[in-house]
Amino acid sequence: MTKARIAVVGAGLMGHGIAQVFALAGHEVNITDSLLQNLDTVKSRIAANLRDLGEDENAAARVLPFVDLAEAVREADYVVEAVLENLELKQRLFSEIERHVRTDTILASNTSVIPITAIMQGLERRERAVGTHWWNPPFLVPLVEVIETQWTSPQTVAWTMQLHQEAGKKPAHVKKDVPGFIGNRLQHALWREAISLVEHGICDAKTVDDVVKASFGRRLAVLGPLENADQVGTDLTLAIHDTVLPAIENRPGPSPYLQELVADGKLGFKSGQGFQKWSPEEQAALRNRVMQHLKAMRER
Ligand SMILES: NC(=O)c1ccc[n+]([C@@H]2O[C@H](COP(=O)([O-])OP(=O)(O)OC[C@H]3O[C@@H](n4cnc5c(N)ncnc54)[C@H](O)[C@@H]3O)[C@@H](O)[C@H]2O)c1
Repeated sequence: MTKARIAVVGAGLMGHGIAQVFALAGHEVNITDSLLQNLDTVKSRIAANLRDLGEDENAAARVLPFVDLAEAVREADYVVEAVLENLELKQRLFSEIERHVRTDTILASNTSVIPITAIMQGLERRERAVGTHWWNPPFLVPLVEVIETQWTSPQTVAWTMQLHQEAGKKPAHVKKDVPGFIGNRLQHALWREAISLVEHGICDAKTVDDVVKASFGRRLAVLGPLENADQVGTDLTLAIHDTVLPAIENRPGPSPYLQELVADGKLGFKSGQGFQKWSPEEQAALRNRVMQHLKAMRER
């Protein structure tokens, strides 16, 4: 693929990291944000990340900040949106973006959970719209889910997959636009059971996390669940499911235990307590452990 002109809309946590990945891959990246402060700092944040990762800091020079959305997207081959998780805002932005780009410019949203179909339904040319769901931090977590809607053309999917592959990411094609795509469906199936174990007094929150980290969590990066099922045998998997599935959590909505935490203002790191208590030092130590781990995985 020749180098593309990329436009990133939103220079927050995800947007600046996505811009960084594309710039490091050699693409020219325009970036825009409605908050001037985020735009003013975007190049220095990217340069600091690159320095910390031991990557070429000069890549930050390929990122150009624009105050004006129309100017940022006008020449783009590919536009990816990473603004706040708000359906109306995203719909409004894409209808504005569509007025300024070429008819074949690909339009992507990095929404976490909003169906791409809902965001893109008002577009004139819906065949060029996809979801691209990155994970935080975008420059350390390899996966990007590429989500196809009922309207997305095969060429749009193929081009977007190739763009991310060649930028060093691991794109995964999500063939139907289902809530949570693939990664978050799997992740939150686990979280539902984790919360249920605490809710029912089977163990406390720390024990849930200790069990995951000291057991199958150790293997997960190299052994996926379905590889694991094949390894132990589908017959054994069936026997386990006969016993375990009727016993595990299957309620269709959020746990009352979780609802109570939120109602009590126990919001996690931001309030100092969620499932557990968190001092500022403990929060910093956990964040640091995660970053160190992800960096070590990258070097493997
Ligand atoms: N944080 C994560 O772990 C994560 C992971 C995957 C996907 N996402 C999704 O990515 C998107 C961005 O999340 P984030 O964590 O980077 O949020 P963020 O708050 O860090 O960044 C959002 C940015 O959008 C800007 N913005 C708001 N309105 C705008 C507008 N009208 N035009 C231009 N810019 C505007 C804000 O000023 C801010 O800089 C959300 O849809 C989120 O759900 C987040």
